[in-house]
Amino acid sequence: MTYFYFYLHLFLLSLFFSIHTTHQLQFSQTQVLLQLRKYLQYPTSLQIFQNYNAHLCTLTPSQHLSIKCEDNSVTELKIMGDKTNKHGKVSSFNGIAVPNQTLSKTFSIDSFVTTLTRLTSLRVLSLVSLGIWGPLPDKIHRLTLLQVLDLSSNFLFGSIPPKIATFMNLQILTLDGNYFNTTMPDFFEPLSSLSILSFKNNQLKGSFPFSLCKIKNLTHVSFSHNELSGALPNLTVLSRLHVLDLMENRFDSELPLMPKSLVTVLLSKNSFSGEIPIQFGQLSQLQNLDLSSNRLSGVPPSLLFSLTNISYLNLANNVLSGSIPKKLKCGSKLGFVDISGNMLSGLLPSCLESISDRRVVRFGGNCLSVHSQPQDQNQKHGSYCEESSSGKMKFWRWEIDAAIAIILVVFLLLLAFGVFFYRKYHSREIYRHEMLPKIVQDNNNSTTGVSSELLASARYISQKMKLGTQTSTTCRHFSIQELKEITRNFDLSAYIGEGSIGKLYKGKLENGSYVMIRSLALRKKFSIQNLKARLDLLSKLHHPNLVSLLGHCIDGRGKDGISPQKLHLVYEYVQNGDYRTHLSEISLDKALKWSDRLAILIGVAKAVHFLHTGMKPGCSRNQLKTNNILLDEHRFPKLSDYGMSIIAEEIENIEVNGEKLKYCLREELEDDVYNFGFLLFESLAGPIASEKGEAFFLNERASFDSHDGRIRIVDPVVLTSCGQESLSIVISITIKCISPQSSSRPSFEDVLWNLQYAAQVQASADAEHYIF
Ligand SMILES: *[C@@H]1O[C@H](CO)[C@@H](O)[C@H](O)[C@H]1NC(C)=O
Ligand SMILES: *[C@@H]1O[C@H](CO)[C@@H](O)[C@H](O)[C@H]1NC(C)=O
Ligand SMILES: *[C@@H]1O[C@H](CO)[C@@H](O)[C@H](O)[C@H]1NC(C)=O
Ligand SMILES: *[C@@H]1O[C@H](CO)[C@@H](O)[C@H](O)[C@H]1NC(C)=O
Ligand SMILES: *[C@@H]1O[C@H](CO)[C@@H](O)[C@H](O)[C@H]1NC(C)=O
Repeated sequence: MTYFYFYLHLFLLSLFFSIHTTHQLQFSQTQVLLQLRKYLQYPTSLQIFQNYNAHLCTLTPSQHLSIKCEDNSVTELKIMGDKTNKHGKVSSFNGIAVPNQTLSKTFSIDSFVTTLTRLTSLRVLSLVSLGIWGPLPDKIHRLTLLQVLDLSSNFLFGSIPPKIATFMNLQILTLDGNYFNTTMPDFFEPLSSLSILSFKNNQLKGSFPFSLCKIKNLTHVSFSHNELSGALPNLTVLSRLHVLDLMENRFDSELPLMPKSLVTVLLSKNSFSGEIPIQFGQLSQLQNLDLSSNRLSGVPPSLLFSLTNISYLNLANNVLSGSIPKKLKCGSKLGFVDISGNMLSGLLPSCLESISDRRVVRFGGNCLSVHSQPQDQNQKHGSYCEESSSGKMKFWRWEIDAAIAIILVVFLLLLAFGVFFYRKYHSREIYRHEMLPKIVQDNNNSTTGVSSELLASARYISQKMKLGTQTSTTCRHFSIQELKEITRNFDLSAYIGEGSIGKLYKGKLENGSYVMIRSLALRKKFSIQNLKARLDLLSKLHHPNLVSLLGHCIDGRGKDGISPQKLHLVYEYVQNGDYRTHLSEISLDKALKWSDRLAILIGVAKAVHFLHTGMKPGCSRNQLKTNNILLDEHRFPKLSDYGMSIIAEEIENIEVNGEKLKYCLREELEDDVYNFGFLLFESLAGPIASEKGEAFFLNERASFDSHDGRIRIVDPVVLTSCGQESLSIVISITIKCISPQSSSRPSFEDVLWNLQYAAQVQASADAEHYIF
């Protein structure tokens, strides 16, 4: 009897569906979708199924779910979950379920894929960050019509099934961020339509698949972060290849010839040897080339620097030697060059010396001589580079380094003794002077350096270009007359507002450029020498994401005729308003999209990281607030109000948040992490959030956990422009930063890493949208 009712029910249902034809799914297809939801253990992205049941094809596509149908069958299924698998973070994964990371033990990938293959019309399948774990079954090949297969950021391991080669129409195959750990397959020849192939962040071994050379339509090949070794084939036949990303593998051949179509080539952190082929200088489309951390030798081809489109060129940490021709020409778009950590000698070509045209050049750790650069970025003695052509030298390098280290240690010990005795006999004033923070020598991997991982996406290239160094004017002394002139005697019309500390004015210098002036009251009793030393230090903090201090003026109109009363700090003027104003923008075309916000946050995080690590002890309490982040015309962020703790002792009345500013102390660095948490929160929820402070955040924190909650709290502009995975990463780091216990807050490095990761995830989500 029950069977009868069941079938009657089925019959009625199917009758119902056949009437509503246009967007209706076959009953069986709906059943499959509902079953998949069960297999995936009811992910939040599929909660919406509860209400829609039969109308699944009519759901508006979102970042975390998109279903398209044709002729009553599902042709496209994209689900993005929130089980992010940040590669390397789940080190405990060894093939069995991990609580809260993967789907539970009861998940069977075999049954899941069997059910999936009943959606026989599927052309696009994307299942990302769903915690799917297990070896990928070969029977996936039953989805013969597939054009796009993306299973990124799951816990798939074992081998990539050979029958994937039977997908005749496959155009995009992405298996990034899984645990595939056998030999790289070499069965790609039949996949003649393939254009994008990406296996980043797995543990694939073996050699580069030579069968790829048969696929003329390839545009992207990304195998970074695997364990591939051996040689690369002659790739010139791949005449449409745009992106070749093989970073962090173990390739150890010479560099092959490359197709002229390449735009981005990332080969860093391998063991490539030999010379850089002259042919690289003919890759006319090339924009980004990263060959750093290999064993490349010889003189780099001059034409490489002058390519019309090149903007990012990283040759650091190889054994390149000889001298670069003095008359070297640099391409007009070249914004970042790193040749540091090689054995180059001779004169640094003038186009790499110029510091005026917004080009970052790193050349430390060579034996170069430099004409006009104020600092030589740590050049070594000529003898270090002489024997360079023989491989021997590389071998000796660490021994030389060790010897230098020993000499340094002995020297430092002697120095320590000296200082000890010196201090004993000198006054406290001088002692304080010695306690000044010291600028850390800017070595190869400075924070302004750019992670080339971000480069695979074109979005970051323009940002790279903007990372030019500021013209390094030495801290200038302004007279009070001069400042009065340019601000019309500190007139109200020149007044911009109240900074976190001091009053802000805008002025126009004689040469026509604008400056921002911060006026502070000084304490009566302090030493001018000490203050000047501190100002000098402050002006030496150069970072593209810091508003540069151009000069100062100590205004000595004290009543006793000795003590000055006011300090005016003169900064570069950043013209496009502050971040908070931009966050308050309502008009949709001007409002900052999620990816814009991420780019700004990453810039600020780099600046803060620099303040923490660029001098010793690191400088904390940098007044991290959205209105202290200024944007230039390209929305490139610059932090103002930083480093005030350096001159804190000399300034009056700088009570901030009820606490007096203190010295830079290591324990206080996390205070910046906490405040950065609010920058993140504001970026997520809009500026209203910040005014209500910690209590409001703690109250609303739970909203982030649910879909509905997110819709309520997250700024609509963010919601419509973000990928779910990227958003989740930032939410989780925000919650950690604002943790009430300082011990459970993350390190700043961790914050920066997560933001860069979120940006990367967002960029690939955007790229995917762009393709379809
Ligand atoms: C691949 O990883 C799985 C799960 O961690 C493990 O059981 C298997 O032995 C690994 N296989 C190889 C070839 O390393
Ligand atoms: C998994 O998450 C739940 C709720 O979020 C939590 O109660 C539980 O302790 C977590 N388990 C592990 C092993 O982290
Ligand atoms: C290669 O790409 C072109 C243009 O995108 C397309 O017309 C052609 O059919 C593709 N070739 C193969 C074998 O799929
Ligand atoms: C690389 O391949 C191209 C095109 O097939 C060929 O013309 C060239 O001679 C090859 N170069 C080398 C060094 O094998
Ligand atoms: C490279 O530069 C040329 C000439 O400026 C331009 O036509 C071409 O579009 C550029 N290529 C890319 C990939 O931007």
